[in-house]
Amino acid sequence: MKRTLVRSITANRSVLVQGFIEHKRNMRNMAFLTLRDRSGSVQVTIEKQAHPEFTEIVERLTVGSVVSIIGEIAENPQVKQGGRELLPEAITIESLAAPLPFAQNANLDTRLDYRWIDLRKEKARLIFSVQTALTQAMRNFLLERGFLEIHTPKLIAAASESGSDVFEVDYFDRKAYLAQSPQFYKQMAMAAGFERIFETGPVFRAEKSYTSRHTTEFTGFDLEMSYISSFEDVMTLEAEMLSYALDIVQKEHSESIERLYGTRVVVPKLPFPVIRLKDLYIELERRYGYRLPESEQGDTTTEAEQLALRFSKEEFGHEFLFVTDFAAEKRAFYHMRKDGVPQGYDLLWRGVEITTGAQREHRYDVLCKQAEERGLGQDVKFYTEFFRYGCPPHGGFGLGLDRLTMLLLGINIKEAMFLFRGPNRLTP
Ligand code: 4AD
Ligand code: MG
Repeated sequence: MKRTLVRSITANRSVLVQGFIEHKRNMRNMAFLTLRDRSGSVQVTIEKQAHPEFTEIVERLTVGSVVSIIGEIAENPQVKQGGRELLPEAITIESLAAPLPFAQNANLDTRLDYRWIDLRKEKARLIFSVQTALTQAMRNFLLERGFLEIHTPKLIAAASESGSDVFEVDYFDRKAYLAQSPQFYKQMAMAAGFERIFETGPVFRAEKSYTSRHTTEFTGFDLEMSYISSFEDVMTLEAEMLSYALDIVQKEHSESIERLYGTRVVVPKLPFPVIRLKDLYIELERRYGYRLPESEQGDTTTEAEQLALRFSKEEFGHEFLFVTDFAAEKRAFYHMRKDGVPQGYDLLWRGVEITTGAQREHRYDVLCKQAEERGLGQDVKFYTEFFRYGCPPHGGFGLGLDRLTMLLLGINIKEAMFLFRGPNRLTP
């Protein structure tokens, strides 16, 4: 008999369903099981007197066990799960689960220890349905505009973002690093004449941060494009892409997101508001009395990012905010500068940075000089070589996919990821 998904079962028909036992209520005359597969759940109703042959198996069955059940579907308006129930004719235990190691209300760390069990819930599955829809939409958006999807190496010879946040690994008789970004190679694709590329893949950061939005390994959604006239072209493309993707997520998942997470999906209006960093600080001080610590001049802080959301909502009725004109010493050496100002931006959503983007310095001499200033000369020679033999003007961005998912649902990054990696977590 062919398996039927719970979602597709119809009344008055005998079917084979397979899945996990999510719930069991075993009473004197009746037993109720909830069976869940990837498409949903169904109540299994057992009348013990009519079916004494199931008494023993129901007794043995534990929550978490995997079963195959052949049975008849009956309509029953009293059943909460879809007004129908499965009346079994045969039950096979495929895998008997040991008593589950944690209770429903266990803390996040315990749930992460047993992530695969935690992920069985409808609520957890939604995270990945949403993330799949998001990436699929962004991918489609870019493919329609002539972008190629590439995959760049994660074992690299030099740090692209900053020397302090990089993981060093033994590479035979020398050192290698885990890529902090596909930055160097997406720019190489510009020197290769690809013009428009994107990549989604792992990004590693040796940051000892214990926040709800930092992880040591995350999934980056990175893009690079040639023949831009300024970084504003990159901002426009990103805003259009996000608005398009969130519109799709809203259509497909907003009902489930509100029901399970209590978070509303807002499709952002175009264009997204933009403010220079300096002006943002003037506004934050004037409106909320916020003073930036001296050491953070030219950069954003967590508190400022949160207040920026309040500002953006009050001033523009928008959850997104582009911030431009950071200080050169706070930005990567490869950003193009105009009168000393880096030609790039951060994009904040719901008070958290989700993207850094910029026009890149494609002029070989200028780039080498900017690398020298950071003492990077020899280390990044393989990279500066990309710009010696002709390279179009270009720019791009790096978007944190886990942060995007986290903000969309209003959860901690640890929950937004399939498996979280942090300074204290390397298993499962
Ligand atoms: O801002 P970042 O460091 O920028 C770059 O990697 C540049 N190469 C991008 C560019 O094209 N100019 O990282 C990009 C994004 C951040 O905005 C954030 O969303 C995410 O990656 N991110 C992290 N997400 C989770 N945990 C961390 N430790 C993260 N660090 C950065
Ligand atoms: Mg950044």
